Amino acid sequence: MLQYVSNKGGSPPVDFETAILDGYAPDGGLYVPSQMPKVSKEQLAAWKDLSFVELAFEILSLFIDRSIISETELKQLLQDAYAPFEKEEVIPLHRLSSKKDTYVMELFYGPTLSFKDVGLAFLVNLVNFFLQRKNERLTLMVATTGDTGPATAYFTAGKSNLDAWVLYPKGLITEEQERQMTTLPHSNIHPVGVSNCPDGGDDLDVIISSYYADARFKEKLKLSSVNSINWGRIMMQTVHYFYGYFQMTDTIGERVHMAVPSGGFGNLCAGALAREMGLPITTLIAANNKNACLHRIFSKGFFSKEAIHATASSAIDILIPINFWRYLYFACGRKPELIKKHWDEFEQTGNTRFDDQTFKNYAEGFRSHSASDEETYKTIRQIYEAEGYLLDPHAAVAVSALETFRSELGDGKMICLATAHPAKFPDIVKAVLKKHNLPEQATHTSIEKAKKAQEKMYHFEHVDAKEALYQTMETHWDQIRKKQP
Ligand SMILES: Cc1ncc(COP(=O)(O)O)c(C=O)c1O
Repeated sequence: MLQYVSNKGGSPPVDFETAILDGYAPDGGLYVPSQMPKVSKEQLAAWKDLSFVELAFEILSLFIDRSIISETELKQLLQDAYAPFEKEEVIPLHRLSSKKDTYVMELFYGPTLSFKDVGLAFLVNLVNFFLQRKNERLTLMVATTGDTGPATAYFTAGKSNLDAWVLYPKGLITEEQERQMTTLPHSNIHPVGVSNCPDGGDDLDVIISSYYADARFKEKLKLSSVNSINWGRIMMQTVHYFYGYFQMTDTIGERVHMAVPSGGFGNLCAGALAREMGLPITTLIAANNKNACLHRIFSKGFFSKEAIHATASSAIDILIPINFWRYLYFACGRKPELIKKHWDEFEQTGNTRFDDQTFKNYAEGFRSHSASDEETYKTIRQIYEAEGYLLDPHAAVAVSALETFRSELGDGKMICLATAHPAKFPDIVKAVLKKHNLPEQATHTSIEKAKKAQEKMYHFEHVDAKEALYQTMETHWDQIRKKQP
């Protein structure tokens, strides 16, 4: 049976179901499969024409034992997860006519218009499936920079065995993103706006981590998470790299470069693991905005936390790319002691430097770039003026990064991952295009609907949030337990 171990090495191996329901490993590490499945060239060729859902079934079957989820159950979970997506292909590829061999992977056709839907549609269904089978209830907690929150809330809404507490830095996400969370009427969804967060969304992760560290609270409320610390997110996100590659190429082995707007490194970690499994992606480009933690890691071998900047690509205003620790485990020969040493050092001092060999091992096949807001705006404007195609600010960060390396990378297909729909960022679109009225591509009926709906949320100041939310959550839990002992 395929087991899951902590990348810090301090917890016993567990099965797939436990890894998914626990979120973090008990030693505070991230779960990773004890062996990475390998996919041969022949297998890749045989998968080339599968639909997204069929391909997901094949890839996920490499990570999940049939004794845990049967073939029929897995197929059903996947079909249910992707039925609400707007496009039949789930994630279509759009060819840019003004750039050579360049495609945009449109990951934003799920119900809340960002790539988070792709991972969470499946993961939340899966978690609820496990809980129904065990007749148990869980409390999900996620911190969001604007997209994980809406997707978690949407997919958890009305699920019988789950509550979701969704924390967001009030004032640092767009009104559209906020309304996607606060206008769901379901009683198991609890949006929590936290004002005056000095380090943005990262401050909310600190609150959540402190609850996890409180054994009584964690056990009583059965805390878990579906953010990208959860293995299920990373596993599901490997699928779009395979799918994108197959859409692009006639021959397995053809050169393909992919640029990914990155914050927590969950999406790119999945890309790196797809490559580790055998998908021949030539280059992965970590596209940062001015918050350039990944750029420092990949260009200097230095992982450091610096002051946060509010940027136009606000969903990647993230200081700590936590999934880098998961990727490093694979890139450096599965040495938990190495991960623990650097991770502990980073937590204690706010930085850590990698030796030359470690840097070489993890940076191979990667490039990185930190795009300024001016670059992001210029990219949006250029592509829109050249061909009438509208990028959201995050996709524009990826396109900017790709342009930086285009000549150095030489030939091959270029894919930019578009992680959000422009309708989530109307003010930026208006300002950049200098238009009073939004182009149709920057509107969406679901956003219009959310603008008219009634809002509900909790609201705390950052200084009080940890204590006040703790009490609110416990009171809520006691009330549901009274109704459903
Ligand atoms: C629109 C968008 N793009 C990119 C990212 C970064 O993804 P990751 O945290 O997996 O690097 C996020 C979320 O954090 C996002 O919401």
